[in-house]
Amino acid sequence: MSAALCPALRPRPMSEEDISAVMAIENRAYPVPWTEGIMRDCLHIGYHCQVYEQYDELVGYSIVSTAEEVGEAHILNLCVRPESQGRGIGRWILQRIVEQARSSGCRQVLLEARPSNPVAVRLYRSAGFEQIGRRRGYYPLPEGREDALVFALKIDTAR
Ligand SMILES: CC(C)(COP(=O)(O)OP(=O)(O)OC[C@H]1O[C@@H](n2cnc3c(N)ncnc32)[C@H](O)[C@@H]1OP(=O)(O)O)[C@@H](O)C(=O)NCCC(=O)NCCS
Repeated sequence: MSAALCPALRPRPMSEEDISAVMAIENRAYPVPWTEGIMRDCLHIGYHCQVYEQYDELVGYSIVSTAEEVGEAHILNLCVRPESQGRGIGRWILQRIVEQARSSGCRQVLLEARPSNPVAVRLYRSAGFEQIGRRRGYYPLPEGREDALVFALKIDTAR
C-alpha cells in the first residue's frame, strides 16, 4: 500500500502516559526489546518521541535524535504494532521523519538495522537509504550478539 494512503493516521508527541502502551508493542515487536528504562530515558533526554494513532488506537511510535549542528537525524526506534504491519504505516512514518529532518535543515538521516530483519532492510532500501557500514556485534540476541547494518539517506536540501 502506498504510504500516502494510510487512512486516519495521526501523529502526536509521546508522553509518560503512553509508555505502558508503547512497551506492550515494543515487547511484542522485537526479539530483544528495549527496557522501559531506556524508553523513559529517551523521553526525558528530549529525543523526538512520537506515537501514531489510527482510529484512537496506538499503532506505532518513533524515536529520533537530531543533531542539527551537524545536520544529522538518527532514527533510534521505528515500530508498528504487529497486527498493523504490512499496511504502509511504517513507510508513512519513515517518510514523515525524513520530511521533518529536511525541514530542520538536516542533510542526512542515519539508522541501524539487524541483518536478520529483512522487512526493515527492504523498507529502508526502497526509501533510498544506502548501507554505509556495519557495526560488529552491535545488537544483543537472546543468545550472543548480532551485527548492525548502518544505513544513511542523503537529503537534498535544495527542494
Ligand atoms: C519494519 C516495520 C517498521 C515496517 O513497517 P510496516 O508498516 O510493517 O511496513 P509497510 O507496510 O510500510 O511496508 C514498507 C515496506 O516494507 C517491506 N515489507 C513490509 N512487509 C513485508 C513483508 N511481510 N515481507 C517483506 N517485506 C515487507 C516492503 O518493502 C514494503 O514496501 P512495499 O509495500 O512498497 O513493498 C515494521 O514491520 C515493524 O515495526 N517491525 C518490528 C520493529 C522493527 O523491526 N523496526 C525496525 C527496526 S530497524
